[in-house]
Amino acid sequence: MENPVFLSARTTYVSLSTLLGALMLAAVPADSTAQQKKARAAAPMDLVQPASERPWTRYRGWPATDWKDYNTLTQIASPPYAPPPKLDGPIGGDAQNGEKLAFDRSRGGSCVACHVMGKTTPALPGNVGPDLSTVGTWGRTDQWLFDYVYDPRKINPNSVMPPWGTHKLFSVQEIHDIVAFLKTLKAPPVFSSELENPATRPVPVETRDNLDPFVNDGMAAVERAKLIYARAGASGKSCASCHAAPEKSFKTWAASMPRYEPRLKKVIGVEEFITRHARSTTGDDLLMQSADNIDLAIYLRHLANGTPIKVDTQSKDSAAAIKRGNALMVRKIGQLNFACMDCHSPEKGANKWIRGQWLTESKGQIAHFPTFRTSRSEIWDLRRRFQWCGVAIRANELPPDAPEYGDLELALAAINQGQKINAPGIRH
Ligand code: HEC
Ligand code: HEC
Ligand code: HEC
Repeated sequence: MENPVFLSARTTYVSLSTLLGALMLAAVPADSTAQQKKARAAAPMDLVQPASERPWTRYRGWPATDWKDYNTLTQIASPPYAPPPKLDGPIGGDAQNGEKLAFDRSRGGSCVACHVMGKTTPALPGNVGPDLSTVGTWGRTDQWLFDYVYDPRKINPNSVMPPWGTHKLFSVQEIHDIVAFLKTLKAPPVFSSELENPATRPVPVETRDNLDPFVNDGMAAVERAKLIYARAGASGKSCASCHAAPEKSFKTWAASMPRYEPRLKKVIGVEEFITRHARSTTGDDLLMQSADNIDLAIYLRHLANGTPIKVDTQSKDSAAAIKRGNALMVRKIGQLNFACMDCHSPEKGANKWIRGQWLTESKGQIAHFPTFRTSRSEIWDLRRRFQWCGVAIRANELPPDAPEYGDLELALAAINQGQKINAPGIRH
């Protein structure tokens, strides 16, 4: 924007192309892919600056720990697998302390996030792992139990369970105590209600009307966005100056996002497009995760409500991005050493309880984004959700405009192809 000559040259070009576009619109159906492709190639964009804050700092209220010693979606840093230490005799741990550790939520979310563990199991256990209430009668040797808790990869290379010893969540002595506790587990649990038993707990179904502004506070974003859309930016132009009929022009657009952007050599979603496009048109700097950016993102998706997701999966660059995204979804990250698919694939943790939270599968996860979260009174876009799923497993998150998130988003969109956009969503 510093270069007024460039700007005016572009503006001339823009008005010409808008005129041409209007002429073409009269003749060609709005969703003709050939026309869309042409239009897309032309969208002006800032290609130089990052689209989110630098240096990226984690949101206030989120855990502040730096997990630099563990894998993220960009770096491989976790300690390599090494066989657990050999026991030099039978387990002699303190079962009472072991029970305390197993139930301690501050130590990796506690074993009961995934296991029922006998009569003293605390409230709302999960069932991602087997019920361990009688593990003390299964004939497991001390070394076997020690190994499984220290690092389950010794026995099961595809284990979902964190390597509690290798990743320094518990010390060797603490694992002795935990195993001593496991050996005392010999009787089935007694649940106080069907809610307490993860096998009978009713599955949550979201039935709230997300498009009713009296139900979903996220709907207010649509009204706010209309004002932002009509507001002149630093260049004197507003979105409306160039796109006078958004209901028509953008009726399907958001359903084609994210997409590979050759000029940036990465996948961008609606939010990043808004930042880059606004910088070189209205002149506003609508950083990703800013309130205005999220409002406009909701608006553009809302305009496409009812349109089935239809992202490009075929072109060479898109197919390569999807392949990268799928590989990232099975990469183990964080101190807790989870891959996205450990929790979101039905072959692993999905459609089960992790503590009181029902884990959804990847299909069905994205059409409602950005989503108003009633538990936090915040609107979360998809990138923020990715960031939280990282931080929750003790993996450093990436900036919202990270190319890896673009690859993940496209891979997820490919899984959700055909699902109808329905934004803003509402979730607990
Ligand atoms: C100076 C004119 C101008 C302004 C201002 C402008 N745009 Fe655009 N926009 C264009 C041009 C040119 C294109 C590419 C041709 C087309 O799709 O119409 C485009 C394309 C788009 C597209 C399709 C994107 C794609 O994938 O290629 C969207 C969505 C969009 N604009 C939204 C906005 C929003 C939201 C704003 C306000 C922040 C805005 N535009 C401001 C000129 C403008
Ligand atoms: C994220 C979920 C998760 C958490 C948290 C978890 N586990 Fe597991 N655990 C599993 C799963 C899943 C299995 C079985 C398959 C596998 O390894 O993926 C398992 C298996 C086990 C087994 C082997 C059972 C057998 O066949 O004998 C033991 C023992 C065990 N867990 C103990 C623990 C202890 C102790 C803790 C807490 C320190 C813990 N688990 C925390 C998911 C979890
Ligand atoms: C330890 C388990 C766990 C891991 C690992 C995990 N998530 Fe999640 N994720 C959750 C929970 C819990 C929720 C909220 C409940 C739900 O919708 O499944 C969630 C929700 C989501 C949602 C929103 C679903 C919706 O419909 O609102 C998306 C998208 C998502 N995760 C993507 C990812 C991605 C991508 C990764 C990997 C970077 C990942 N998750 C890793 C536990 C996990």
